[in-house]
Amino acid sequence: IYSHRGRLAVTLVAEEREAFVAGARRAAATYNGGVPGPTLIADPGDRLDVRLVNRLSRPTNLHTHGFHVSPGGNSDNVMLDVPAGATFDYRFDIPRDHAPGLNWYHPHPHGDGARQLFGGMAGTVIFRSEAERRGASAAVRDRVLVLQAPEWDTAGQLKVWSAGLLASQVRLVNGQLNPHIALRPGETERWRIVNASVSDFFDLRLDGHQLTQIAADGNPYSRPVTTDVVSLPPGGRAEVLVRSDTPGTFALHALPADHGAGFVSPDLVLATVHVEPGLRGVGGRRPFRPEPLLAPLCDLRTRPVDKRRTITMSMTGGFTIDGKKFDHDRVDQVVELNALEEWTIVNDSVLIHPFHIHINPFQVTHIDGVPVDEPGYRDTVTVRPRSSVTFRTVFEDFTGTSLFHCHIVPHSDLGMMGVFQVV
Ligand code: C2O
Ligand code: CU
Ligand code: CU
Repeated sequence: IYSHRGRLAVTLVAEEREAFVAGARRAAATYNGGVPGPTLIADPGDRLDVRLVNRLSRPTNLHTHGFHVSPGGNSDNVMLDVPAGATFDYRFDIPRDHAPGLNWYHPHPHGDGARQLFGGMAGTVIFRSEAERRGASAAVRDRVLVLQAPEWDTAGQLKVWSAGLLASQVRLVNGQLNPHIALRPGETERWRIVNASVSDFFDLRLDGHQLTQIAADGNPYSRPVTTDVVSLPPGGRAEVLVRSDTPGTFALHALPADHGAGFVSPDLVLATVHVEPGLRGVGGRRPFRPEPLLAPLCDLRTRPVDKRRTITMSMTGGFTIDGKKFDHDRVDQVVELNALEEWTIVNDSVLIHPFHIHINPFQVTHIDGVPVDEPGYRDTVTVRPRSSVTFRTVFEDFTGTSLFHCHIVPHSDLGMMGVFQVV
C-alpha cells in the first residue's frame, strides 16, 4: 500500500481467525486477515495514519519498530494499550530526514506480546530513499521476506510459546513453507528481510552465493559488506543484494543458531531459489551498482560522550534488567534531549539476548570491550552469553517515554524490559 500526496491512511484490523498460512487454513493472529500483515510504502516527510481496530479478545497496541518518531500521544506510544473491542487512531509524522529502509510493525502489549506475534501479527513498512523515488536503484527487483516461526498442534491450533519451541521445524517466508524464488541470471535483486519471529535467530546462507549486505535495521550502510552468512536476531532487518550468474537450484538456509545453554536450532531450508536461464528481465543485465543505496555514516565515535550507562540483562530471579522486572509505572533511565550517550549492555546469563531500544537507532562501537567498525546504525543487537556490547546514540528530536528490552518477546513479556524517558 503506497502513500499518496504525502499521506498514507490505512486500517489494520487485529483479529484471531483462520488464515491461509503454511499451505493450509490454520488458526492465526492477524492484521487484516493475513500472515504477515500488509506492507506499507511511504517516504520520509510523509504522514502515516493507522486506524487500529482491536477484534482480539485481549488488549493490543501498535509499535512501529524502527521509526524515529515521537513516542508520545497517538504516535509510537507503546505505554498505552487498546482494549479488546476498541479502535485507536495512530498518527505517525515521519521526519523528512528519516533514514530510508525496511521497518516493521507489531503488537507490544506487555505480557501478551509473544502470543500475538507468534500468531502472525507483523507487517513491514518501507521508507523509500530519494534515489529510489527517482528510480535509481542498484536492483532490478525488490523482494520483502518476512521470516516467522509459528507452530501448530495436530488440531491446527497455535501452540503456546515455550522454550521447547526452539525445536520448532516451522520456518515461514511471507507465510509460506519453503517458497520458490525465481531469479534471472545476471540480474541483481534486493532482498529486504525482517526477522519477525518471537525468539529465533536466523543465520541466513544462500548456497553457492555471497550476499552483499547494504543496510541493517532500516539504516543504510556506508559501504557494502559481502559475506556468506547474514545474521538476524529477532526484530532485526537486513537488506542484501543477491546476484546469480549460474543457472541452478539453491537453498536459502537458516543455519543452526546457538542460543546458549545447549539450545541449538536445527539447520532448516527457508526457501528454494531457482536461477532459470530462460528468464530474461525487463531491465536486462543492469550493472551492479550498490552506491545509490548507501549513505555516509554519521560517526559518533569521534564525538564527546555526555553520559555513560551500563545496563545488565540477567536471568537470576526471573528475566530482569538491572535486577528488576519491568514496571510500567517506573522510569529506569532518564536521558536528556540531544545527549550523546554510550550504553554498555551486559548479558549476565547463559542464554543469548537481542537488546533493542525504541525510537533511537545506535552505532555499535565495542563487543566485549574490543572496538568494532560497523558500517551503519542498528536498533537491535545480539548480546552473547556472558558478553557485552557497547553502543552510542543521540537521543534527539523527541522527548517522552518508551522502552528498551530483550527482543526475545517471551523474555520481555516476563520482565526483561525497562523504561527510558527523554526530558
Ligand atoms: Cu520490535 Cu519493543 O519492539
Ligand atoms: Cu521496537
Ligand atoms: Cu532475552
